[in-house]
Amino acid sequence: TRPLKVALLGCGVVGTEVARIMTTHADDLAARIGAPVELAGVAVRRPSKVREGIDPSLITSDATALVKRGDIDVVVEVIGGIEPARTLITTAFEHGAGVVSANKALLAEDGSALHAAAEKYGRDLYYEAAVAGAIPLVRPLRESLAGDKVNRVLGIVNGTTNFILDKMDTSGAGYSEALDEATALGYAEADPTADVEGFDAAAKAAILAGIAFHTRVKIGEVHREGITEVTAADIASARRMGCTVKLLAICERAADGRSVTARVHPAMIPLSHPLASVREAYNAVFVEAEAAGQLMFYGPGAGGSPTASAVLGDLVAVCRNIVGATTGPGESAYTRLPVSPMGDV
Ligand code: HSE
Repeated sequence: TRPLKVALLGCGVVGTEVARIMTTHADDLAARIGAPVELAGVAVRRPSKVREGIDPSLITSDATALVKRGDIDVVVEVIGGIEPARTLITTAFEHGAGVVSANKALLAEDGSALHAAAEKYGRDLYYEAAVAGAIPLVRPLRESLAGDKVNRVLGIVNGTTNFILDKMDTSGAGYSEALDEATALGYAEADPTADVEGFDAAAKAAILAGIAFHTRVKIGEVHREGITEVTAADIASARRMGCTVKLLAICERAADGRSVTARVHPAMIPLSHPLASVREAYNAVFVEAEAAGQLMFYGPGAGGSPTASAVLGDLVAVCRNIVGATTGPGESAYTRLPVSPMGDV
C-alpha cells in the first residue's frame, strides 16, 4: 500500500509531540491504519529554529505551498487562531486532503463553513483535540451517541482556570502566581486572556453544543463570564459553605426542545459533587442523554501530549477512512435549532 502523506501546520508544543509520536510509533500507526503514514512537510513560522527529531528538509515557512502540493492526504492544523488557519484548511480540502484540526477558536467561529467545505470536496474534518485535550468527547457525541438524544452537556473544559482556582483553593496561592505556573506547564493559551476571561471555554461550549444538539452554535452566542473577578475571599467563603468554585460550561436543550443554550461562568459546587474533585488542569464533562442516562468524561484537558493524543487518534481515523475510500460523520443531518440567549436557567 502506498504511504499516506501528512502535512503538519504548526510545530509548537502540540505539533512537536505529534511529529515525535508519528515517528516513534510509525509501525503501530501503520498497522492500525492499514498503510504507512509519513510526515511529508512541516510548516512553521520560524524555519531556522532547530526542532529536535524532525528532519530539517521537511521544514518550510510556506504553509500555502505545502497544502497545495497535491500529494498530501491529511493536513494536521495545530496553528490556532482564525487566519491563516481557515484559508489553509479550505485550501487543503480543495486540494484533496482530509483535515485534522485542534483549532477551537476557528471551529467555534466558523465551523459551519469548514464543514460545508469538507462536504463540498468529500473530505473529512476531525477535531477531537479542539475540546478538552485528550478526553474523547467530539467523537462520542458525533458517533457513539448519534442514536440517542442528548439533553445536557456540563462540565469543566478549561484546564488553566481549573488549575488557578484549584491552587487558590487548596494552597492559598495568589491568582497571578497560579496563572504563571499554568503557563509554565504549557496549559495556558498564547494569550491567557482567552483562558481567564472564559473565551476558550466558550469556544469549547459552542463546539460541544453544536455537536450534542445537531445544530450550530457560534462562540458569540455563548453567554460568557470568566474568573478574573473571583477573589480569594470568594473561594474562602465558598469553602465555609462546603463548596468550591469552578468555571463551568453548560449546554442545554430548552425544556420545550425548540432551542438550545450555552453558557460559561464560575459556579459554586458542593464538595460532595464529582466536579469538585477535578484538580489541577484536569477537565470533566457530564453528558446527559435520554437513553444512555448520565455519562462522565474525565481526564487531562490541556498540555502538549494529551492534546497530541487526540490529534493522533483523529489522524488514524481520517487515514483509515482514506484507506477504506469513505468519509466520517459530516453535518448533513443537522437540525439547526436556534440558540436562545440564556435558556431556562
Ligand atoms: N488553554 C487551554 C486550557 C488548553 O487551559 O484548557 C486546552 O484547550
